[in-house]
Amino acid sequence: MCGIVGYIGRRDAAPLLLEGLQRLEYRGYDSAGVAITGKTGGLKTVKAKGRVRELDAKLPKRFAGTTGIAHTRWATHGAPNDTNAHPHLDADGKVAVVHNGIIDNATDLRTRLIAEGVEFRSDTDTEVLPHLIARSQAPTLEEKVRDALRHVEGTYGIAVLHSDFNDRIVVARNGSPVVLGIGEKEMFVASDIAALVSHTRQIVTLDDGEMATIKADDYRTYTTREGSRTAASPETVEYEAASYDMGGHDTYMHKEMSEQPEAVDRVLRGRIEDRFATVHLGGLNLDAREARSIRRVKILGCGTSYHAGMVGAQMIEELARIPADAEPASEFRYRNAVVDPDTLYVAVSQSGETYDVLAAVQELKRKGARVLGVVNVVGSAIARETDGGVYVHAGPEVCVVSTKCFTNTTVAFALLALHLGRIRDLSVSDGKRIIEGLRKLPGQIAEILAGEDEIRKLAGEFAHARSMLFIGRVRGYPVAREASLKLKEISYIHAEAYPASELKHGPLALIEPDVPTVAIVPSDDLLEKNRAALEEIKARSGRILAVAHEKQEKADHTIVVPQNEPELDPILMGIPLQLLAYHTAKELDRDIDKPRNLAKSVTVE
Ligand code: F6R
Repeated sequence: MCGIVGYIGRRDAAPLLLEGLQRLEYRGYDSAGVAITGKTGGLKTVKAKGRVRELDAKLPKRFAGTTGIAHTRWATHGAPNDTNAHPHLDADGKVAVVHNGIIDNATDLRTRLIAEGVEFRSDTDTEVLPHLIARSQAPTLEEKVRDALRHVEGTYGIAVLHSDFNDRIVVARNGSPVVLGIGEKEMFVASDIAALVSHTRQIVTLDDGEMATIKADDYRTYTTREGSRTAASPETVEYEAASYDMGGHDTYMHKEMSEQPEAVDRVLRGRIEDRFATVHLGGLNLDAREARSIRRVKILGCGTSYHAGMVGAQMIEELARIPADAEPASEFRYRNAVVDPDTLYVAVSQSGETYDVLAAVQELKRKGARVLGVVNVVGSAIARETDGGVYVHAGPEVCVVSTKCFTNTTVAFALLALHLGRIRDLSVSDGKRIIEGLRKLPGQIAEILAGEDEIRKLAGEFAHARSMLFIGRVRGYPVAREASLKLKEISYIHAEAYPASELKHGPLALIEPDVPTVAIVPSDDLLEKNRAALEEIKARSGRILAVAHEKQEKADHTIVVPQNEPELDPILMGIPLQLLAYHTAKELDRDIDKPRNLAKSVTVE
């Protein structure tokens, strides 16, 4: 949510900054802006409402300079327009700041600064920062920034440029990610390595409460509070720039859906232990005695990750026989929940940055709870904050809506459930059965993806629905929820998910030919119950699309998916519905990778 990028070196900064912004655009696309400086000093700034391409079109022909910062915005405070776009400047135009996060006490700071005679140009919370920095009497830029941050409450990842100190960029992190890219006589800074990997794979990740100064041939890190040096050394990141390209697909979403067989293969790789019919999860940090003493499992996540957590909770309950449930982290953190020492808490997040999840983890840790993470981005805030966990190894996910990460997260939960189950009372034969099922997943996913043409045709039929209902029972319910979320996010068709068992308690009133139902109908012990729900819909002239293991007579169409072990079926049954959402959105000519009003990595409340 909001992306910042910075460059200092010998090359022309503007093209590099714009390329970085393009790669970070998934974090927000309401407006973009850039500020640069060069040997001759002075700051030049250009800002534009809309996408990075709008900013590009607005840049003057001569916009030279070898040092710069840039921003792509997801609006929180103030409308998305040119004025509210970052970078924000002080009154003399000497200090430029780009910011990701929210300054909670911006209103108070603003009132104080106005009383001191400062004139504000924008409605943003960020603008207090350049004014505070400019007003500091400290001799160095580093100290000016530290002075300013002393007054600030909230979250930030910032990059600061000052025309009187144009040999450096100063950056600071508190709650919003900041990474440094270490090059040859050039340095980069960004919210995400996606913006850096085409230039360097040597990365330094800042911690909360840490700052850095980057110069063309040097960097140093230090604490925000005391200014004392910290020992942040570069790590080599595993991803190549190509991992962030579209690779011949028309959208990132299509690319990422198609990557699912390899992604699932990756989350399984090296973890299966046939000898003991279990899996080895090296980062879990939970010994057998501790695992046996768990009385409950509580999974916390948001959006799609919450849905993956719902799937995971059922797997843990079925395989490990531990009572488990999932709850949106955003709700959990505000309801003063009882924190129980015998409960294992699991935070689930693709980005590892989602603020509501991070805040829930911090609150749990403060109360002494044990919290594990199920996270995709290695070294992310949630991964660092938790006591251990499972990486889902889905690879970079650029499309704002999550597909391969959802699938890999559900597989990671299957691994966790099997691991806990085998420490507790899951038999060897059941352990073997689940392992065989896990091994079949990549091939079965490839089989489902091969049916894309059929789904494309169906999407043409459903694209003009007024609204759609998604139903599923027990294992099928989280699948229905995730499919309904995917459809509404990218097609903007209203969709609602309901447990099939609850149909006749209300939602049946919605059924009419214009409101089709997508039903999840696995051939498990609830098949007949689900068929009865289809009867009820058909009797009211409802159109039905079933996702099932065999053709359903009452459905107008059935997408038949390969059958796995019943506990693992939810992993497969959502995949055709990702394709359905995708082709429906395509039929309606939507901006699939960047749906309106949304952004990836929700680093604000
Ligand atoms: C929907 C989607 C979001 C995210 C949610 C949490 O397609 O991607 O609902 O799942 O914002 O994000 P993470 O998983 O990064 O914590």
